[in-house]
Amino acid sequence: MRAISQDTYGGPEVLKLIDTARPEPLPTEVLVRVEAAGVNPVDAKTRAGQGVAGLLGEPPFILGWDVSGVVKAVGHGVHTLAVGDEVYGMPWFPRAASAYAEYVTAPSRHFARKPANLDHIQAAAVPLAGLTAYQILTALADVQKDQRVLIHAAAGGVGHLAVQIAKALGAYVVGTASAGKHEWLRGLGVDAVIDYHSQELAEATGDLDVVVDLVGTEATLTQSVAVTRPGGLVVAVPSGSPQAVVDRAAESGVRVASYLVEPDGHALGEITELIESGAVRIEVEEVFPLAEAGAAHRRLEDGRTRGKLVLAVR
Ligand SMILES: NC(=O)c1ccc[n+]([C@@H]2O[C@H](COP(=O)([O-])OP(=O)(O)OC[C@H]3O[C@@H](n4cnc5c(N)ncnc54)[C@H](OP(=O)(O)O)[C@@H]3O)[C@@H](O)[C@H]2O)c1
Repeated sequence: MRAISQDTYGGPEVLKLIDTARPEPLPTEVLVRVEAAGVNPVDAKTRAGQGVAGLLGEPPFILGWDVSGVVKAVGHGVHTLAVGDEVYGMPWFPRAASAYAEYVTAPSRHFARKPANLDHIQAAAVPLAGLTAYQILTALADVQKDQRVLIHAAAGGVGHLAVQIAKALGAYVVGTASAGKHEWLRGLGVDAVIDYHSQELAEATGDLDVVVDLVGTEATLTQSVAVTRPGGLVVAVPSGSPQAVVDRAAESGVRVASYLVEPDGHALGEITELIESGAVRIEVEEVFPLAEAGAAHRRLEDGRTRGKLVLAVR
């Protein structure tokens, strides 16, 4: 099968197309023919030797976690999926899933049924970003109706899904984004948008119950704590909180949490329902052929993506 591999850590240029053996499913696993693979910041960070690179061992390895495709074989013990099923998922994270390839094998319960109203390109954009938004807003923050939720980087892959999932939970949702993305975010249901280039967060909002900080710098985390009510929660998504932020939060009675996304076929099934009901839409900004994974990483590393980037594998 064709796959994208790297022999060394480095820039996007280390990603290269190779031929390699197709994997075989073990008991409880499925073999999925990958139609499309989503691209996430953790892919680029790991390619460069950061992200979850320390967990994958030294290169060569095949990057990628988000897949949408068709079940081609099932191992002994698989009860919930059958050959021919269209599925999507973020298997194995933070171990390697090797999703930048024509086939992957993974535990069947790391997948869910692909939303019927999405094609494979759209579906491949959902799992990692969607699970991040869903797990944070439900299990971690337990967002309730009428609570006030702020999403930093609301226009990105995680952010645009978090805005819509928070709205589906009944929250009042504030987002930060550049002015050019405000109208689009209003179309996704955001209640208020803050241009982080020209507006001070503390002047634009306050008394928040939950902040999902997808920028995660000391500056944004400090501002996030300042606009959160005592007892409220700030989630530092990219890489946790520096001690100065933890101390500031403790002084004002604000809780801070770090977070790491987990494979979860059950939660993904709930995301499928949100998508099929029309409550959540996925935005794919650009599609690249598998062989151009390096170009997709360059685009991702610009940091300006509206929604998601996807690799078309077939
Ligand atoms: N811990 C975990 O399990 C986990 C899971 C998923 C993602 N993450 C991390 O969360 C971060 C976001 O992921 P993502 O996939 O959503 O990234 P992304 O799609 O690449 O985010 C791009 C968006 O970020 C916005 N942005 C950049 N700087 C900003 C700022 N200072 N304030 C507000 N918006 C800003 C950009 O909008 P503008 O053009 O308007 O600036 C752009 O729309 C990444 O660091 C990722 O690694 C962590």
